[in-house]
Amino acid sequence: MEEKQVSDQTITSVSRESRVFKPSAEFKGQANLGSFETYRKLYAESVNAPDKFWAKQANAQLVWRKPFKQVLQWKPPFAKWFVGGKLNVSENCLDRHLGTARENKAAIIFEGEPGDVRTITYRQLYFHVCRFAHVLENMGVKPGDRIAIYMPMIPEAVIAMLACARVGAVHTVVFGGFSPEALKDRINDCKAKVVITADGGWRRGKIVELKANVDKALEGAPTVQSVLVVKRTAQDINMVEGRDTWWREAWQGAPNFHDAKAFDSEHPLFILYTSGSTGKPKGVLHTSAGYLLGAKLSSQYVFDLKDSDRYFCTADIGWITGHSYVVYGLLSNGSTVFLYEGAPNQPEPDRFWQMIDRHGITILYTAPTAIRAFMRWGDAYVLRHRLDSLRLLGSVGEPINPEAWMWYHKMIGKKKCPIVDTWWQTETGSIMITPIPGVTPTKPGSATLPFFGVAPKVVDNAGKEVPRNSGGKLAITKPWPSMLRTLWGDDERFKKAYFSEFPEHPDYYFTGDGARQDKDGYFWIVGRIDDVLNVSGHRIGTAEVESALVSHPFVAEAAAVGRPDELKGQSLVVFVTLKAGHEPTDELKEVLRSHVGKEIGSLAKPDQVRFAAGLPKTRSGKIMRRLLKELATSGEIKGDTTTLEDFSVIAALKSDDE
Ligand code: WT7
Repeated sequence: MEEKQVSDQTITSVSRESRVFKPSAEFKGQANLGSFETYRKLYAESVNAPDKFWAKQANAQLVWRKPFKQVLQWKPPFAKWFVGGKLNVSENCLDRHLGTARENKAAIIFEGEPGDVRTITYRQLYFHVCRFAHVLENMGVKPGDRIAIYMPMIPEAVIAMLACARVGAVHTVVFGGFSPEALKDRINDCKAKVVITADGGWRRGKIVELKANVDKALEGAPTVQSVLVVKRTAQDINMVEGRDTWWREAWQGAPNFHDAKAFDSEHPLFILYTSGSTGKPKGVLHTSAGYLLGAKLSSQYVFDLKDSDRYFCTADIGWITGHSYVVYGLLSNGSTVFLYEGAPNQPEPDRFWQMIDRHGITILYTAPTAIRAFMRWGDAYVLRHRLDSLRLLGSVGEPINPEAWMWYHKMIGKKKCPIVDTWWQTETGSIMITPIPGVTPTKPGSATLPFFGVAPKVVDNAGKEVPRNSGGKLAITKPWPSMLRTLWGDDERFKKAYFSEFPEHPDYYFTGDGARQDKDGYFWIVGRIDDVLNVSGHRIGTAEVESALVSHPFVAEAAAVGRPDELKGQSLVVFVTLKAGHEPTDELKEVLRSHVGKEIGSLAKPDQVRFAAGLPKTRSGKIMRRLLKELATSGEIKGDTTTLEDFSVIAALKSDDE
């Protein structure tokens, strides 16, 4: 194995992964983007002459009502794309498919957690959205009004989003797992006028009481005038006279057609709240044409979409992944999207594999945290199923450790499906660094190369590009169409968070991630800069230490944090969960320490190994290292835990304290 242990003043990157997987001739032969040379050529065009590239793409991909006059107006940090153009995003996802071969194709195949299945064609989806657009307009919703969507993963959630887009209302989808308090804060921050919800949703066989949560949230949210409620779980709920309406009743009388108005390219499409490292959540604002173009173009190439595909993204629509790669990117391409309401282990840990066989899913897009859970549950659940319809796999959300990559490749992809490890963010709107399947040779753990029009650089603190194989900060040096436009109501915070890191380059977008480019130019994300460890002068990404730990056959998951240390700056504490059948012993602690020493080098040998029953995670599956750091440092957790998924994890961690 090749040794990549190059150090500079920024970040020491220690990954030693060196396997390369070339695309198979079979996949390559049918890939949308024929060859690596085509990728190189198109990529060069896209960054050398971006105006020309994006003008061509915007005209080819989107349905315009009024052509744009100017591709980009860039006054850093503020961008306007496709200036002067007008379009309707919902028309671009629905009306455009009518009268084509896609009209009666399934747009959505839905499976509820209890096992109910619904298929909705493009024409049917169009009718649903048209009717619901009338419902919103009849309620007095005007273009620019904000609407909060707090729903389970059911077709009505997609219908609600598209109906908002159709009438020019700005949706803010709040993940159904959030508390009434979190919902209230988000509603108040954007002053939403309407809330769309359901009585409840199914999760692990139980009802998530969505409407009851809305009722609580609205006690402190005076801007909301109306609530629309889908009947899903049918338990008794409280309907407030004059405020609350059943979806079905409102929908019944509405006309089947709706003339969609054209909106400006820069008309706000949605706000999506994402957690900041401190304080209140950030309302990331995305607008219409540029966002849609980014989502559509990337879907086409990264998922190599074909009309015969049945695509399953396991993310909730409450996350950006659900916005871009369940709704806008896929429906604008006329694809068939599979939507699942519930938990992956309901009734048994093989639910996904069962559904993949049942519906003939061809593309699966999921997160490393889910993959590691499947690994922990055991191969037997996977091996019960054929999975032979799958042709492509994707990963998103955090660096995928090579161990999980290999398992995904062998167990799920049966060594024949390419894996696209896609790096992007809520803020970027669409995939930024990714392999193109059938085209880009992949390396387990690397998101590989930039997508069209994306100009990433690994830079030092002054914004200067660092040499290959050195670690640094990941910056995006050119604007791109689907970039966030601002943080809702807070231009200053927007500028400070994303365009102030490199004072000499006020036009560089700072991602907050640490990264390294290898000799082939491949990008390796080493984790959030805030999480970087500083051990004896070496700045090491948490992802690399964790990946080394997880490569041990007994380890299911790991989190690495730094604890202040007089001698070393920080000492390295790791929290480890074990796979079923392995006992936490002092001996194993030693084994794991040496294992990391062997995999990375003695500089990264953990000072302390702690076993845990579970790790604290956000609801989107990201490990909350901040909390573990607090625990390792002070023995207590006092910081904000409102985004934590499972509170019992913290209690268990504390009781394990030594
Ligand atoms: C952060 C963004 C993008 C949708 C889901 C998460 C990490 C995301 C990867 C990847 C390494 C990744 C980064 C990024 N991340 N994908 N393929 N490899 N890291 O969206 O909640 O906005 O989080 O997730 O740290 O900055 P998000």
